Amino acid sequence: MSHAPLPNPRDPAADADALDPEAMRQPLGNAWYCVGRSAAFAGGGRASAKTLRAVELNGEQMVVGRDAEGALFALRDRCPHRGMALSRGRFDGEALTCPFHGWRFGTDGRCRDVPTLSASDAADFSRIAVQRFPVRESAGFVWVNPYLGPPGLADVPALPALDFEAAGACVVELEVEASFDLTTLSLVDPGHVAFVHDSWWFRPSKALREKVKHFAPTPHGFTMTSHATTTSSPVYRLLGGAPAVEIEFRLPGVRLERIAAGAKRVANYTYATPMSHNRTMLTNALYWNMPALNLLKPIARPLMRQFLTQDQQVLQHAQKGLDRKPTMVLFGQGDLPSQWYFRLKREALQAARETRAFHNPLEPQILRWRS
Ligand code: FES
Ligand SMILES: [Fe+2]
Repeated sequence: MSHAPLPNPRDPAADADALDPEAMRQPLGNAWYCVGRSAAFAGGGRASAKTLRAVELNGEQMVVGRDAEGALFALRDRCPHRGMALSRGRFDGEALTCPFHGWRFGTDGRCRDVPTLSASDAADFSRIAVQRFPVRESAGFVWVNPYLGPPGLADVPALPALDFEAAGACVVELEVEASFDLTTLSLVDPGHVAFVHDSWWFRPSKALREKVKHFAPTPHGFTMTSHATTTSSPVYRLLGGAPAVEIEFRLPGVRLERIAAGAKRVANYTYATPMSHNRTMLTNALYWNMPALNLLKPIARPLMRQFLTQDQQVLQHAQKGLDRKPTMVLFGQGDLPSQWYFRLKREALQAARETRAFHNPLEPQILRWRS
């Protein structure tokens, strides 16, 4: 990450700086990342090894689970004794037992017992501990912050939340062999939609049309508002009339699309999670408040998967090109949101370094492009 001043997004010479390959590869360290559906983390008395899940987050191996009381925990998936994966061990709802020599750890990470110690052995295990990570639950998902640095000002982007009571939800998760940044850019990139997402059900018309959208800064990102959308997409038509659509992008890699038509609500949330270098999890969650839509679930899932697979395929091929030469040319107003992503990220890193609050560097703006 360079310390250069914020680049002028209209200055092509500044693009090279904004896209410093080193910054390109580092996801924000101090942020919440989605690590799976709440329902995937069993527990609450059902004490078995099934309640432990191995999770890869930003290059860190973690074991995430839920204790007998239903409280979530996230620990480094590494026994301090010989490095064994604790996720391979047993969990009784209270403590994890390492399958190698039976050391036991509480869900707070502290060593509780070394069963092989003789009663006459003076060795003290109480100071042995496994690293613990903060974990939360929101919008039906589990979120972990992998940050291990010095405690600074906790000005981290808010967790995505639902602003209505969901009658149902449909979730698709897809692993993408591409960097976190490249994958996250696809969440704010209007230019790829016509070319990548060209399925009949999403985009019946192949013609590019002029788009004018209003953008405004939000606490850790920006929103795009388009009231009375004119889109011909059957997905929107399903809601009837001309729904109001608001799309928010939020650091670290969260896209929140909120669709409202009268009392009908649909939320299409997408989360990018860095697993390791050049491997990113894309999670797409569709929520609705009309019970009748639950009937469409078996149809919605394969369509969502097809949509996400289109992103996955193109991102994986683009990543190969970026591996050969890690530069991009961000061009025209349709690429401004991509530039904003880097400005927001840069500001988040700078704010953390200076132990100060995040100041959104973006201004309200109208963008025009064809898609
Ligand atoms: S490696 Fe875990 S107890 Fe030995
Ligand atoms: Fe896409």
